[in-house]
Amino acid sequence: MGEARREFKFLDVKPFSPNLGAEVYGVDLSSPLTESQFNEIRAAFLEYQVLFFKDQHEIAPEQHIEFGKRFGKLHAHPAAPTMKGHSEIFEIHATKDSKVANGEFWHSDVSCDEEPPLGTILQIHITPKCGGDTMFSNMYLAYETLSAPIKKMINGLTALHSSEHIYTGRYADRGKSDTEISCPEANHPVVRTHPDTGKKALYVNRTFTKQINELTKFESDCVLAMLFEHAEQVNYQIRFRWSINDTAFWDNRCCMHHAIWDYWPEERKGHRVTIKGERPYLEATKEGSTPENLRLSRQL
Ligand code: SIN
Repeated sequence: MGEARREFKFLDVKPFSPNLGAEVYGVDLSSPLTESQFNEIRAAFLEYQVLFFKDQHEIAPEQHIEFGKRFGKLHAHPAAPTMKGHSEIFEIHATKDSKVANGEFWHSDVSCDEEPPLGTILQIHITPKCGGDTMFSNMYLAYETLSAPIKKMINGLTALHSSEHIYTGRYADRGKSDTEISCPEANHPVVRTHPDTGKKALYVNRTFTKQINELTKFESDCVLAMLFEHAEQVNYQIRFRWSINDTAFWDNRCCMHHAIWDYWPEERKGHRVTIKGERPYLEATKEGSTPENLRLSRQL
């Protein structure tokens, strides 16, 4: 994105592509972090949006939870099966018997929640022989590269994110019946301000975003189709190939991701800890967002 890259003293950070992501070496997430390591991880996370920690040992559930908690309170998934004895850990698991695999379409995690996750930390323990990559897309760039008239139109609009169509029946084969889950829905600004960087990001995704509230159904379908396709362009993306114990930490406020299920009938398994975020909002800037629609996006 043409911005000067920060130097790190306690981490070895290698950019993954010019537009998104970095591989991180020189830190062992299976043991407690020093304050300096933590501060640099946080800075790298805000700069690169998704970090891939390489050469890792398997992280014990307690340590994985501890690492997540350094960034904030943990988020409880409304529907997914969790690890026995560790309800903070969402077990990602696809086998030959799976009917669905998690995260198969572009999304920002649980954007249907009132306060969707800030970030997600996933360590993969079993990988297929090949395949099972995860793609990520830069939603700052997706916003920045829209034309000025489209930016003006969508600044201040809000959209409904819902989950019934996703979560109903989804985890039944993993012991979570529909009576044990909840299917939240929430309205969020179409363009959100990142609370830590102050930058604007597009915040719609084809998994959860159903309707732009201020438009007719037809207008909303057309505008959303355009925004989804725009945000899924290859130039804003990276595709990460996992090795065992690789650990990804992505920022759901400015990234989408898509886990590719191309490895059936092989198995893929991992542990995911998710950090709670705040209610998305849009701050007024000269580009758009009138006081009226700003007020609306904060109230909804
Ligand atoms: C997800 O958390 O959406 C799944 C990501 C993955 O399995 O790579």
